[in-house]
Amino acid sequence: MIRLKSSEDIARIRAAGRIVAEVLAALRERARPGVETIELDRIARAMIEKAGAVPSFLGYGRPPYPASICTSIDDQVVHGIPGRTRLHEGSLLSVDVGACLDGFHADAARTFAIGAVAPDAAQLMRVTEECFWKAFAAAIPDNRIGDLSSAVQRHAESFGYGVVRQLTGHGVGYALHEDPDVPNFGTAGRGLRIRPGLVIAVEPMINAGTADVEILEDGWTIVTRDRALSSHYEHTIAVTEDGPVVLTAE
Ligand code: MF3
Ligand code: CO
Repeated sequence: MIRLKSSEDIARIRAAGRIVAEVLAALRERARPGVETIELDRIARAMIEKAGAVPSFLGYGRPPYPASICTSIDDQVVHGIPGRTRLHEGSLLSVDVGACLDGFHADAARTFAIGAVAPDAAQLMRVTEECFWKAFAAAIPDNRIGDLSSAVQRHAESFGYGVVRQLTGHGVGYALHEDPDVPNFGTAGRGLRIRPGLVIAVEPMINAGTADVEILEDGWTIVTRDRALSSHYEHTIAVTEDGPVVLTAE
C-alpha cells in the first residue's frame, strides 16, 4: 500500500533528511586512509543523537542490523557492517545513513574515494551519481516508476556496467522501507503512476562488472559475485506538483 505524504509530512522528512546530509558531509571529511569504519559509525551515531534523532538502521531487520550506518568497501555493494577494518588509499567507500526524527525517516548514501583512486573507479562513481540524477529528472507527476528505472539502467549499461537487481530503492517516510519498490532496471512507461506526495529513496547500485551479487555469512554484507567494484548513490526525494525535490540536503 502506498501512503502519499502531505506537505507537512514532507517538511518533517526533510528535517530528518537534513541530519542525514550533515552526517554524510562530516563522514566525507573523516573517510581517509588509516581510519577504521567503526570510527565513522561512532561519529554518525553521536551526530544523529545530538540532533534529537534515532539511527534508522540500528536494530533493523533480521538478524538485527548491528550499527548506525552501512560502510561498504570496494566489491561490497551495500549493507557492509562497520568494524575494525581500516580504509586504504585507492578504495571506494559507500556510506549509507538513515535518521528518524519525530517518527519520520530519511535515507541517503554516497560513495567516497579514499585518497586518490584509479580512473575506472572514479568513472564508476561519476556514472552512478549521473544515474541518480537521470532518475530524479524522471520523477514528475504522471510519469511511471519504470521511467526512473529505465533511465538508470540505460545510462549504466551504456558504460558496460551491471545494474544490481536483487536490491531496489523504496518508499520511505513513515517507515524506513515502504511501498513502492523502485528498481534500477525496467521498462519506460510501466509500473506505478507517479503522483505528488510520493516520497521515495532512489538508490542506484552499479557494478563495474556483472550485475550478480551475493550475501556474506554475516547475513548483511552484499558483495559483487565477481568481486569487481561497486558504487551506490542515494537520496530521499519527494514528488511535488512542480516536480521532484531532494529531501536529504543540508
Ligand atoms: N539504504 C539502505 C536500504 O534502503 C539502508 C538499509 S540498511 C539496514 O536498504 F541495515 F537498515 F537495513
Ligand atoms: Co535506502
